[in-house]
Amino acid sequence: MNFENLVFKQEGNIGILSINRPKALNALNTQVLKELDEAIDIIEKNDEVHIVVLTGEGRAFVAGADIAEMKSMGSKEAREFAKNGLEVFRKIELMEKPVIAAVNGFALGGGCELSMCCDIRLASDKAKFGQPETGLGIIPGFAGTQRLSRLVGMGRAKELIFTADMIDADEAYRIGLVNKVVPQDDLIEEAIKLAKNILSKGQLAVRFAKNAINRGIETDIETGMAIERDLFGLCFTTEDQKEGMGAFLEKRKPNYKLR
Ligand code: HXC
Repeated sequence: MNFENLVFKQEGNIGILSINRPKALNALNTQVLKELDEAIDIIEKNDEVHIVVLTGEGRAFVAGADIAEMKSMGSKEAREFAKNGLEVFRKIELMEKPVIAAVNGFALGGGCELSMCCDIRLASDKAKFGQPETGLGIIPGFAGTQRLSRLVGMGRAKELIFTADMIDADEAYRIGLVNKVVPQDDLIEEAIKLAKNILSKGQLAVRFAKNAINRGIETDIETGMAIERDLFGLCFTTEDQKEGMGAFLEKRKPNYKLR
């Protein structure tokens, strides 16, 4: 993978994708969004990569959408820019493979929104979160008004968005925005450890579970239970189910094949 603003590394079945535009604190401009979109397609198709860690180079995860690019936009252009980002973030959210955000620094505006479309958020103790848009005379545009309230509840989402205040990693943990806070120097190691834990399970099952959770949260519980039941049934068409249950009964470790 050869991108101007992204770095991709693979460690076994773990793909580590970093946003690499440190001079602008990894701000998302049209080019970065386009590269992200292409990279996600490549990673989703790469059978060697089973799980993704998304992080940022330097002292930011992503400090937001690029303010310099947005400043002179008209309404039509701004909607188009938002649409691009919304589509890329939704693609990340709907990837079959799990995605862990390793939030290494500022995750503001579009950066906080990017972390929220990932499945799990690990934060370094140096990370800072916020939706500063109202301070710029705009509102979040990459689904911050939608995903933040789903993650932390409407009251906290409104407080963060109305005040544009930045919060530190401990506060983000306290309100349920991040899953865990770890020392900065251990962040990638911890993300890899978590990825390996997930990788030791049946990956088809993990993907089906992701699908059931994502689709279920967007609907009523009856429909959600029907989605779960169908995917539960689908598990029993896989070799991984036979292997997982067989290994338990034979008192050995399972050897999953993603089939
Ligand atoms: C463009 C940015 C940027 C951004 C930082 N930079 N954030 N450029 N867009 N979002 C640039 C700065 O201009 C500066 O460039 C360089 O990165 C380093 O930033 P500093 O401000 O000098 O660093 P520091 O003083 O440490 O402050 C860090 C910071 C601050 C607190 C993160 O940079 C900041 O407030 N950034 C903006 C955060 C923000 O408002 N994000 C939300 C954007 S709106 P130079 O060339 O001067 O060195 C958004 C909407 C999403 O995300 C939806 C769109 C549809």
